[in-house]
Amino acid sequence: MKAIIIGAGSYGEVYAVYLQEAGIDICGFIDDNPLLCGKVINDIPVLGNIEYLKQIDNRDEYHIYCPIGNNSVRVKLLSYARSLGYTTPNFIHKTAYISPNVNLASEGIYILANALIMPFTEIQKDVMISISANIAHHSKLSQGTFISTGVNFGAAIETGRNTYIGIGATIMTGVKRLGKNCLIGAGSVVIKDVEDNAVVAGVPAKLIKYK
Ligand SMILES: CC(C)(COP(=O)(O)OP(=O)(O)OC[C@H]1O[C@@H](n2cnc3c(N)ncnc32)[C@H](O)[C@@H]1OP(=O)(O)O)[C@@H](O)C(=O)NCCC(=O)NCCS
Repeated sequence: MKAIIIGAGSYGEVYAVYLQEAGIDICGFIDDNPLLCGKVINDIPVLGNIEYLKQIDNRDEYHIYCPIGNNSVRVKLLSYARSLGYTTPNFIHKTAYISPNVNLASEGIYILANALIMPFTEIQKDVMISISANIAHHSKLSQGTFISTGVNFGAAIETGRNTYIGIGATIMTGVKRLGKNCLIGAGSVVIKDVEDNAVVAGVPAKLIKYK
């Protein structure tokens, strides 16, 4: 099985290292930036833009990964790859600890080193969880959620689709819901629910604006 990474930016480059470390054979990047097409990044060629995926006939021989931090772009591109018949597997770093009884979808989830997920949590497809993030029990991360490095996410909290939580933020137990497409600023402490499309930041987190 060969793998293609969508997105040849810095996240793509970093994930390439992790995937290779896990023994995954990466045959190329896909990127919409025409300046990258034909370039070689750390010995991995940029094959073309997203339409390149249509040129491949034997699609069952390729796995597609799309570790792009922009949630709506990642969800859109992974959905597109699936619509073309590709498999979009999870990547779970070997040092991540996922407890028994975690309900983990089987597509498009990327969990990096030292992340810790407690029991009875649900993680939907296309969720990214970065290094050393802690997700407490009975929570639900909806499709397209992004959890940055070092986030502390309390118990029994639900994210909406495409929630983005910045580096080092804390979401206190007692919060029930972070709205869809909301953004939590770096280092924030969230003590109450966040509305859809809201950008909040600070300690305690306050509304800055709506997207
Ligand atoms: C919250 C955030 C989205 C705001 O960005 P922005 O819309 O460009 O807003 P600005 O930088 O203009 O800041 C607006 C105000 O919010 C404050 N602010 C911004 N980010 C803040 C944060 N993380 N915590 C506290 N206050 C913050 C600014 O000081 C400013 O306050 P002022 O109006 O009193 O001067 C951004 O600062 C942020 O934290 N993004 C998350 C990045 C991240 O963690 N990435 C993960 C990489 S792994």
